[in-house]
Amino acid sequence: MDQLIPIASKLQDVLGAVGQNTQLDLPQIVVVGGQSSGKSSVLEGIVGRSFLPRGTGIVTRRPLVLQLYNTRAMGMSEDSEESFENIVGDSEAEWGEFLHMPGQKFHKFGEIRREIVRETDRLTGNNKGISNNPIHLKIYSPRVLALTLVDLPGMTKVPVGDQPENIEEQIHEMLLQFISNPNAIILAVTAANTDIANSDALQLAKAADPYGNRTIGVLTKLDLMDPGTDASEVLKNQLIPLKRGYIGVVNRGQKDINADLSIREGLKKEEEFFKTHPVYSHDRTLREKCGTGTLAKALNTILMHHIRECLPEVKNRISSMMGDVQQEMEALGSSNQQSRSSLGGTLLGLLSKFATNFASIIDGRGGELNN
Ligand code: GDP
Ligand code: NA
Ligand code: MG
Repeated sequence: MDQLIPIASKLQDVLGAVGQNTQLDLPQIVVVGGQSSGKSSVLEGIVGRSFLPRGTGIVTRRPLVLQLYNTRAMGMSEDSEESFENIVGDSEAEWGEFLHMPGQKFHKFGEIRREIVRETDRLTGNNKGISNNPIHLKIYSPRVLALTLVDLPGMTKVPVGDQPENIEEQIHEMLLQFISNPNAIILAVTAANTDIANSDALQLAKAADPYGNRTIGVLTKLDLMDPGTDASEVLKNQLIPLKRGYIGVVNRGQKDINADLSIREGLKKEEEFFKTHPVYSHDRTLREKCGTGTLAKALNTILMHHIRECLPEVKNRISSMMGDVQQEMEALGSSNQQSRSSLGGTLLGLLSKFATNFASIIDGRGGELNN
């Protein structure tokens, strides 16, 4: 994600400068998959922060709509990038805020996780009940891209605890509601130690996105496959082909979670796994289909295309805004010299800001934007 932050932030700067409070309308990233397939873990890997409840059984029981805000793009942070090299620890410069607790800042990611659990229980009890009423969490950080990620309960068939008889249907409906949004990128998560031909995630993604334009297959738990077996066929898109293919990952396992293994340690372990694996390490095509970093890159590419598509619209907004300012200045006439010059100054400021930002987006990163 890091690569894209400067570009998207600049574009968001430009939008801010022309009085567009709305953030760039970037796609939402939504995870679907079977229970305990690793959905919450995959989202954490992408964000690079540990704050989602994870574990065996039904842990995610309400949708979590997670909005990331880049404080630098919002002018809320003066700090330089160097101070945030450590993406792992809690930091004063990063915090979370829940819609149900306005004004309360959570600086510790562990506390965010506990509050998600409390708020889940508050509405659904603590006996595995589910609800389609989302928890809204905003994360403010100088190092995130202004994206929305949605964590969802997993698909399950047999009701347990307080779950209703038609739990399967209810969850399906909830998931469909989120992934039908044409602006949603669907991460269809399947654990590699289960049979992909039975993947509910792929089936549901196909229902919402029949041409597969916005679906990425994510294969988790590659480390838990039976010795002697591997996911080559799936990763090479030979078994159940997806337009955008599959990416295989290794998230932190339950043992790692219990031992409080940091996300950075987890990512290192993942890298080591692929580097030393008898099959994945020897096949270049496969290596390019593996790892959380690869998944983040794939998302980057999609976002990049999306941003490029937004550029003409941004340009139009700016032209029309400049037209408005022009008109206002004419209406004021020469009698109001002061307003006129301050307006002129504002316009100049906007123009130069736009020119600088836009030029660096187009020229500095043109290659990436064009591929
Ligand atoms: P969710 O229910 O789909 O959100 O899945 P979680 O992210 O909560 O993970 C469920 C369990 O599987 C947790 O105990 C995770 O530690 C474990 N897990 C998830 N992904 C992997 C993986 O790639 N490898 C291993 N070994 N365990 C994983
Ligand atoms: Na789970
Ligand atoms: Mg989960």
